[in-house]
Amino acid sequence: MRLLVLTVLLSSLHALSSSGGTDTLSSGHALAGDARLVSSNGKFALGFFQTTAGGKSSNSTLSLYLGIWFNKVPKLTPVWTANVDNPVTGGTSPPELVVSGDGNLIISAHGTIIWRTQANITVDGDGDDTVAVLSDNGNLVLRSSSNASDVFWQSFDHPTDTLLSGAKIGRNKVSGFIRRIVSRKSSADQAPGVYSAELSLLGAIELLWRSSAVYWSSGTWNGRFFGSIPEMSGQSGPTLCNYTFVNNTQEVYFSYTLLDESMIFHNFLDVSGQMHTRIWSDLAQDWITAGTQPKDPCGVYATCGPFTVCNGDGDTFCNCMKGFSETSPENWELEDRTGGCIRNTPLNCGDADRNQTGMADKFYSMTNIRLPQNTEGSQNNASSADECAQVCLSNCSCSAYSYAVGGCSIWHGELLNVVAEDNGQTLYLRLAAKEVQGWKSKRRSGMVIGGVAIGAGIALTGFILAVVILRRIGKCRSSHTVDKNDRGGIGIIAFRYIDLERATKNFSEKLGGGSFGSVFKGCLLSNSTAIAVKRLDCAHQGEKQFRAEVNSIGIIQHVNLVKLVGFCCERGRRVLVYEHMPNGSLDHHIFQSHGMVLSWAIRYQIALGVARGLAYLHHGCRDCIIHCDIKPENILLDTSFVPKIADFGMAKFLGRDFSRVVTTMRGTVGYLAPEWISGTAITPKVDVYSYGMVLLEIISGRRNSRVDESSRDDDDDDDHGCYFPVQVAHELLSGSIASLVDENLLGDVNLEEVDRVCKVACWCIQDNESDRPTMGEVVRFLDGTSEPDMPPMPRLLNAMAGGSNLA
Ligand SMILES: *[C@@H]1O[C@H](CO)[C@@H](O)[C@H](O)[C@H]1NC(C)=O
Ligand SMILES: *[C@@H]1O[C@H](CO)[C@@H](O)[C@H](O)[C@H]1NC(C)=O
Ligand SMILES: *[C@@H]1O[C@H](CO)[C@@H](O)[C@H](O)[C@H]1NC(C)=O
Repeated sequence: MRLLVLTVLLSSLHALSSSGGTDTLSSGHALAGDARLVSSNGKFALGFFQTTAGGKSSNSTLSLYLGIWFNKVPKLTPVWTANVDNPVTGGTSPPELVVSGDGNLIISAHGTIIWRTQANITVDGDGDDTVAVLSDNGNLVLRSSSNASDVFWQSFDHPTDTLLSGAKIGRNKVSGFIRRIVSRKSSADQAPGVYSAELSLLGAIELLWRSSAVYWSSGTWNGRFFGSIPEMSGQSGPTLCNYTFVNNTQEVYFSYTLLDESMIFHNFLDVSGQMHTRIWSDLAQDWITAGTQPKDPCGVYATCGPFTVCNGDGDTFCNCMKGFSETSPENWELEDRTGGCIRNTPLNCGDADRNQTGMADKFYSMTNIRLPQNTEGSQNNASSADECAQVCLSNCSCSAYSYAVGGCSIWHGELLNVVAEDNGQTLYLRLAAKEVQGWKSKRRSGMVIGGVAIGAGIALTGFILAVVILRRIGKCRSSHTVDKNDRGGIGIIAFRYIDLERATKNFSEKLGGGSFGSVFKGCLLSNSTAIAVKRLDCAHQGEKQFRAEVNSIGIIQHVNLVKLVGFCCERGRRVLVYEHMPNGSLDHHIFQSHGMVLSWAIRYQIALGVARGLAYLHHGCRDCIIHCDIKPENILLDTSFVPKIADFGMAKFLGRDFSRVVTTMRGTVGYLAPEWISGTAITPKVDVYSYGMVLLEIISGRRNSRVDESSRDDDDDDDHGCYFPVQVAHELLSGSIASLVDENLLGDVNLEEVDRVCKVACWCIQDNESDRPTMGEVVRFLDGTSEPDMPPMPRLLNAMAGGSNLA
């Protein structure tokens, strides 16, 4: 079995010796081993880094490249690579970078030159020579040592997959020289891939496949922003950059500069053809994606290669068509899918006996898809679906047909760009007869489903997300460290059950019960980190919840979301492993009068942190995730009381193209939005509602729900038997909020903040979901960047409270 994923390795070989570091390489000096140049601001480093491809250590290949990366980012992220076509592999003599006698930069290894700059260098003799300097913006500049403006060569003129702040994308009108961004072949192979970004003659940034098919355009520059990217105007949020568009007689180009140069900002064309903008978060220790273009990964031309179906709802979005298997599973692991999939069984066409019963090729109908666009559907005279099928069968190169209102279309050769979409069309895929018969009895391992059956219902709601993860789950009997480099920041471990038994001392120290399982404390023996281990009990429910958790928090990371360290699935066992939160859950701190009382400042920090976590779930990830069960029990606190949202067992995914999702009711009474109860489809606003309810409990230090209130017997005089959320609305309108605050705080509160939190909470629990703010707005209210208005009374709650005593 091949090792699951091994991508760009953080090169331990080059652990920074941090000997101060210089930004200049002058002639007579060599850069080798783990020595590096560091820009004077410390932001960029230049040196040799290593990537590893392939699984079993025996046939894996180590490749050494010279490159530039973000010096302070622990996940090695090359922004430029020199010897893209010529990595140094194997061998005993390590490569060296030197300034050669003629002033050019040269990489040599094993006594041969493997890469060189091709600059035309004219120095005026007299001891003047060239130096290579890594500048503060990540540009490697080869220039005269005496005159910094005399530049012979610079890496900004030869970008790889990244457009750095200050670099140009564009063309020189005089020489015809084009500065374009080119994707890499795979996460291990730095050779140029098939996708590129360049500035068109009309002044739009275009993404191209094989320099021919344009699959995305930014729209033309209108003086302030590109037409299709209005976000650049800064009207809908803060801008992080200044933009420059220059069109003069010499050249036309676009570039950006960061307003805050200390920010680590990565704008690059990824292996699968999507342009990503992401920002390094020190807190999360991960990249946070700020945007992608095209937004839908399936919008990239041929992103999954031939004979695949692209499905935008998920982390792994490429699947082979029925009857096909991955051409190169190794390359797929590295996200190089240009090879796509190949037939398991050759077509029977051309065989003299092909009309023999049962041997003729058959068609498999693929429903709800966007038809392939590579081969023009050729028109013909077929007037029925049967005739259309005959037209296809009579031509050996025909691979599929479709018959619809427009008539009969047939496709020859490879099928590209087939995308799964709701209400899509039907394509009839030609397959060998044997292949069609085979399905009833067996499933091919190369296909989507793998070892775990996914219900059609789940697929429909866009749950299928991480087929990769499911595959891993299918294979997790042996323990591997799963380290998915980048997409969504996965770095989760597949544990062996026996190791978890050891780590938890045979599940002895129980921390509590979550949904569908119990949680135990444990300790990872390898690095003695404390972990919380959730063992799911009931087989059926547990399975569903297990997948929901792995698919949601397994692929996203945020400082306010609990971190999934790993999982285990061996036979019937399903276990999830999280980082341990020493301060337990929020309910212990706000509802229990014994022990320490959370100060107002900490409560406010918790309110803001939870809002940030939810805002990230709702708007920050590629698919919107609705948590569906926000309540104090699911908010954990770390040592410094930073809140972490936990328990994603109920979470729902909302594909980009859907605004709401129908699902069975889930969650906890007391935090449920009214639309749950009325049975309509839900939106992220159900979380906003629950969040509002939690905010009220944070303020008051007691449960909103009456059941718990009745147990607080001694202070019925000041709440008039009124349902707390309603009371808040009343007090807000009458302007006396001090009485709402948890009396255990003894009045030690910031009333201005209390007022703010009360207003936000009251907005969040509005009956009508469109009246509730988004979590992004909540964050802005709470961090003070915008002011909430006075909310109206939530009618439904008022009616409920006024009507009877609800209990
Ligand atoms: C190098 O510079 C010389 C003198 O300026 C010029 O004649 C020659 O064409 C240049 N060569 C290249 C490859 O640019
Ligand atoms: C430095 O180089 C630039 C560009 O080649 C040239 O214009 C300038 O005159 C040079 N300055 C000196 C002092 O040589
Ligand atoms: C650049 O300017 C020229 C001349 O004004 C104009 O013809 C051309 O369309 C412009 N190109 C872009 C990309 O704006």
